[in-house]
Amino acid sequence: MAALADAPGSFWQTLADESARPPADWRARALRNSAGDAHATFLLERGNEPMGMVDVHQPSLAPEFRELAAMWVAPALRGTGAADALLDVAVEWARTVSAIGVRLWVVPDNTAAVRIYIRHGFELIGDPESDPDDPAGKVYVPMLLTLDKEEAALPTFLARALAPWTDESG
Ligand SMILES: CC(C)(COP(=O)(O)OP(=O)(O)OC[C@H]1O[C@@H](n2cnc3c(N)ncnc32)[C@H](O)[C@@H]1OP(=O)(O)O)[C@@H](O)C(=O)NCCC(=O)NCCS
Repeated sequence: MAALADAPGSFWQTLADESARPPADWRARALRNSAGDAHATFLLERGNEPMGMVDVHQPSLAPEFRELAAMWVAPALRGTGAADALLDVAVEWARTVSAIGVRLWVVPDNTAAVRIYIRHGFELIGDPESDPDDPAGKVYVPMLLTLDKEEAALPTFLARALAPWTDESG
């Protein structure tokens, strides 16, 4: 909710909707995202205060990939390398669960996000698309980090990476 309050233009979820979730829902998602190879959320904390996060999950229409979402660093920690640390741990987790690539969608004029993803090896792989689940009607571009070079050489690789987005983060 801190991320949504700080950067509503970066995400498709809204602060109003997330604030309305009951505690049991938060607990269920925390439990789901803390174990297994389908879904992981990493938090960056200073003391007990969450200062950053990233979510990585298995998209049901592209299960051999992992999808990076909900990337956020508190303004006080921007430009410190905190975002690099979060991205590194997310990608490392994707490698350990044998994902063949990590995909994500980003608002194209979100320069800081696009630049850090490019610095970590992500490439733009498609045109801007609007997200029907985004009440603000923002557009997003797909980016991909290839993890498995043999799979990447297959002619179907890009189409598999571009399998439609589904609402599975959180
Ligand atoms: C995206 C985010 C995690 C990046 O963290 P960060 O600490 O700002 O990252 P960095 O300091 O490594 O900056 C990344 C790049 O953007 C540049 N940059 C930073 N702020 C910028 C700004 N306001 N305008 C333009 N470029 C900017 C940096 O110079 C750096 O470029 P470089 O790689 O060429 O050196 C952070 O900005 C954030 O939480 N933003 C709000 C939420 C968000 O947009 N999440 C992404 C959703 S897809």
